[in-house]
Amino acid sequence: MTDAYVSRETPTREEDDPPLAMEALRAVQILNPSGVVTMPRPDHTRIMCVANQKGGVGKTTTTVNLAVALALHGNRVLVVDLDPQGNASTGLNVPHHAGIPDVYDCLIDNVPLSDVAQAVEGIPNLWCVPATIDLAGAEIELVSVVARESRLSRAIAAHPDTFDYVFIDCPPSLGLLTVNALVAAQEVLIPIQCEYYALEGLNQLINNINLVRQHLNPTLDVSTILLTMYDRRTRLADAVEQDVRNHFGDKVLRAVIPRNVRVSEAPSYGQSVMTYDPGSRGATSYFEAAQEIAEHGVKGGKA
Ligand SMILES: Nc1ncnc2c1ncn2[C@@H]1O[C@H](COP(=O)(O)OP(=O)(O)O)[C@@H](O)[C@H]1O
Ligand SMILES: [Mg+2]
Repeated sequence: MTDAYVSRETPTREEDDPPLAMEALRAVQILNPSGVVTMPRPDHTRIMCVANQKGGVGKTTTTVNLAVALALHGNRVLVVDLDPQGNASTGLNVPHHAGIPDVYDCLIDNVPLSDVAQAVEGIPNLWCVPATIDLAGAEIELVSVVARESRLSRAIAAHPDTFDYVFIDCPPSLGLLTVNALVAAQEVLIPIQCEYYALEGLNQLINNINLVRQHLNPTLDVSTILLTMYDRRTRLADAVEQDVRNHFGDKVLRAVIPRNVRVSEAPSYGQSVMTYDPGSRGATSYFEAAQEIAEHGVKGGKA
């Protein structure tokens, strides 16, 4: 029960947050006010689908924080919120109440993506296509539209601006919305929560990815696995990490995202953890993950 005593003495910091001096230094790097720190820009738009049909594994958190990290370091980034719950829109503080033009209008009514994308306040180079509650109907309505699997792909291709990254935040299911994301993307990023059932259910996702590859998007690549909500105090987390690394090899990013209370607090302030508490372990880990992803994009290895 030592943990309980520690947390009572230091109620606002997590046990594993870094010392203040290092934290301050990292915060400057992450917020990058002078623009000096850059992450290399890819030579083509990288469209990354953030998918895992399990809910609560960190898809949205990963989408939001990687997008902000890359945008703060010189990349042009678009986030497409493809979950009717609209959590990515909330996390980026983008209005998405009923009546706001959203991704539903693009998928079902052919409204251009550029008409519904909103600039994210306070983060230059970052835009978000929000999801409103309207999107809840899309899964069913898509069934009867023409080219139902490639609506998002067409919408992204028709966008007049060039982005370095497009992140698509998927809902926790393998329905037509996720299929649209898999058809639109070149790469799949799978966040895996470090818990006992982590690998269970992944087969189903991989099977779906294989089906999409066979029939609709031959070059789709599972390029990136990110371990999330890692709790280093448990032996289980370590075992899950070994399992995932054995299974997926160098697709697994070296950076691992710890379970960190700052990460979970940030969305209620309409912020990413990068801006909410840039010195926290949550922010530094997402910063490192974004750096790795950016480096893979220029080496040509995984992109
Ligand atoms: N590294 C983390 N540490 C603590 N809480 C986290 C972390 N990552 C995500 N969470 C929290 O876990 C919940 C689920 O995360 P979320 O990104 O919404 O998952 P998904 O999009 O896969 O459903 C959210 O409440 C989020 O704030
Ligand atoms: Mg989500």
